[in-house]
Amino acid sequence: MTVNFAADQSLKSYNTLAINVSARYFYNLTEADQLPEVLTFAEEKNLPVLILGGGSNVVLTKDFPGVVIKIAVRGITHHDDKTLLTIAAGENWHGLVIYCLQNNCYGLENLSLIPGTVGAAPIQNIGAYGVEFEQFFVSLTGWDRETKQWRTLKKTDCQFDYRDSIFKNQLKDKFIITEVTLKLSDQPKAVCDYPALKDYLLTSGISEPLPMDVSEAVIAIRQSKLPDPNQLPNVGSFFKNPVIDAEQAELLAEKYRNLVQFPIPNGQVKLAAGWLLEQAGWKGKEYKNEGLFMHDRQSLVMVNKGVAEGMAVIDFATTIQQDIQDRFGVSLEIEPVIY
Ligand code: EPU
Repeated sequence: MTVNFAADQSLKSYNTLAINVSARYFYNLTEADQLPEVLTFAEEKNLPVLILGGGSNVVLTKDFPGVVIKIAVRGITHHDDKTLLTIAAGENWHGLVIYCLQNNCYGLENLSLIPGTVGAAPIQNIGAYGVEFEQFFVSLTGWDRETKQWRTLKKTDCQFDYRDSIFKNQLKDKFIITEVTLKLSDQPKAVCDYPALKDYLLTSGISEPLPMDVSEAVIAIRQSKLPDPNQLPNVGSFFKNPVIDAEQAELLAEKYRNLVQFPIPNGQVKLAAGWLLEQAGWKGKEYKNEGLFMHDRQSLVMVNKGVAEGMAVIDFATTIQQDIQDRFGVSLEIEPVIY
């Protein structure tokens, strides 16, 4: 087998923030078993490797001097238990959600319309409208770059947390996910406690929603607030919702009567980063005529309306982090992965 690389490939159409950096070598991986050979090429030339899924949760700050591998492996397999599915990492996430609904496998509907690939979903443990990816996760398989072997990881190995996993920490750049196994339900039970979702269904007159209703509602809510990356480049929420101590939340609530806060099980409090940004005046604001804005309908999303450079994205984020720290004493953590 010989592997063919594209040289000096622009990555603009491979990251949804549309940052125009290039890759010295680019490889579109359509068969998982090509991976060892592609990695050997990089190793022999002593080049760094960057893995891209849908490019919807990365910020590329400069030209990549090594090998970029775009994960494009496809395929969905049902096991004997029809609600146990193994999905190739390059499958589109939203495509999977719709496929599952059409095949009577329920649970993913709250995660409708999240951009990106199936293989990227575990990395940030995608979540929306009261549901998180890890709830359906059974195992995943991928290439361990240290032991140079295929390896299967179970749920406890992955250290899932809010928008976090081992793949953003100890295994960052060390493990390449090629397939994911999920267990869904054959019971069409809708989860609709998330306030915005509940309100939308009530207003639509749907009192006993089915999973398809939930999917349609989530799609409508997302379309009304979140910019479509194909039209307005973005990587979704740019910051995580910060978690603070209950005492600090109480002090903030005294000062800001309309503070949006959610108590979480460990006694701490999660704040809405979007609310903090809006209060601080960042909603709809542009950064230094760079074409970078915090979105005017959801201030947690940074959008690139021009030809912004990756470093400007980081400068903008740092300015905002400093401002939120100064105003509220709250530190905001960047959500996408920075390269
Ligand atoms: N809010 C504001 N102003 C804003 C944005 C939000 O006041 O500009 C307030 C809202 O009014 C609401 C609260 O903040 O009271 C929460 O807003 P929303 O329901 O829009 O959710 P979020 O916390 O801003 C999170 C996820 C989204 C996910 C939604 C729905 C994170 C970092 N973001 O956003 O995920 O779609 O909940 O579950 O957790 C993503 O990760 O890329 C993403 C889009």
